Amino acid sequence: MAGRAHEAGAIHGDFGYRGPAWLRTPIDVNALLKSLWPLTVHKGSDGVLEAGGVKATELKEQFGTPAYIFDEDDFRARCRAFKAAFKGADVYYAGKAFLCKAIVRILVEEGLSLDVCTGGELSTALQAGMEPQRIGFHGNNKSMAELQRAVDAGIGRIIVDSFDEIERLYKIGKNVDVMVRVTVGVEAHTHEFIATAHEDQKFGFGLADGTAFKAAAKIIRDGKLTLKGFHSHIGSQIFDASGFEISARRLLKLHKQVKDELGVELPEMDLGGGFGIAYTSQDDPSPADDLARRMFKIVKDECDALQLNVPHLSVEPGRAIVGPSMFTLYEVGTVKPLDGIRTYVSVDGGMSDNIRTALYDASYSATIASRTSDADPMLARVVGKHCESGDVVVKDEFLPADTKTGDLLAVPGTGAYCRSMASNYNHVPRPPVIAVRDGQARVIVRRETEDDLLALDVG
Ligand code: LLP
Repeated sequence: MAGRAHEAGAIHGDFGYRGPAWLRTPIDVNALLKSLWPLTVHKGSDGVLEAGGVKATELKEQFGTPAYIFDEDDFRARCRAFKAAFKGADVYYAGKAFLCKAIVRILVEEGLSLDVCTGGELSTALQAGMEPQRIGFHGNNKSMAELQRAVDAGIGRIIVDSFDEIERLYKIGKNVDVMVRVTVGVEAHTHEFIATAHEDQKFGFGLADGTAFKAAAKIIRDGKLTLKGFHSHIGSQIFDASGFEISARRLLKLHKQVKDELGVELPEMDLGGGFGIAYTSQDDPSPADDLARRMFKIVKDECDALQLNVPHLSVEPGRAIVGPSMFTLYEVGTVKPLDGIRTYVSVDGGMSDNIRTALYDASYSATIASRTSDADPMLARVVGKHCESGDVVVKDEFLPADTKTGDLLAVPGTGAYCRSMASNYNHVPRPPVIAVRDGQARVIVRRETEDDLLALDVG
């Protein structure tokens, strides 16, 4: 498990928030980015897991379970790692992975930009003080009202996704900066539902059929919006650079076509997000600085070959920044050994706080967070409390054979797409997000209550 043993490689510069002294010392970015657990997490000799200097047992006592525990220093370190790796480019944190006001404030302090994809994300960003110019607005079906709000707020750029959307922006009547989202035809090696740049899907303008070029030509010729460049997002949980390289090449060819046929050299290019993380010790994602180096190189080489100026780059990591910064703390309720098969360990949450296992067949791991055990390992499946047999949190994990009611269980890697995709299935209130740092814990998103749920039910 990762402790504070990240000591090599420099990622630090002068940032508004200084953090504790040890965070200002150099950190091994690669170790950090491959790590399953947040930076400050370790286990004491009593086996109790500690995060940000706060023991899991204290967190349980103060805030109850289930709860998402957010390691603020870890999140800041990852923001800095991405900023350093992509120096010279803009890093847009993808809010869909997890967004709340505290996150926005940290992003502002760390100098990141923000990608939003709905009116709800946009208002969270604006309320918490993100500079509108540093917000990018995505989505395949932005409503007139959402676009109007974004334009009124003076948002930095809108990533247009359809001809309908271009018409909606024309109706609003303000000349704003836009990018054209391109479906570059790359099949990222990831789950079908999270791959986004193959041709048969809802996002973007096709490259192969010429619609991406047509969209760019329309915007340039009509002159009602300012086209800054092309955008592509090829999918999520991607472990190597090859898909990004193909997509960069294809986008630059489009830049070249626009230059040759329309006489305009577009100044920007966005390669999206999708950088993968380790969910279990089997996963081995490429570190961000490797990916960045390869992406910068391919862009430079390709621009030289096409005789283009190198456009200003941006990327949009979500999962790789927030995913490993959080873990979920559960309490074990029922333990049911099935003879010769495995033991089912039921916790007090489940598919309502982490749908990813059921939805994408995602793999997670778990550890007992409240004590040591000398018992032999047993093959366990960690399941939730919902009325559905697919309600699995961790498919396979070896837990101590004496795992019992009242034990605390921690599941790492739940920062991205867990709280943000949480539901109230079976009328289960959603867990809080507790930030830990320097021995202090504070609620950044409070626990939902049954009263919250009933407040919407007008009878
Ligand atoms: N940019 C765009 C345009 C996106 O659509 C996304 C994610 C990102 C950036 C950030 O991708 P990331 O770096 O977080 O992989 N719910 C799925 C993931 C859906 C991703 C949607 N778009 C999951 O839990 O795996």
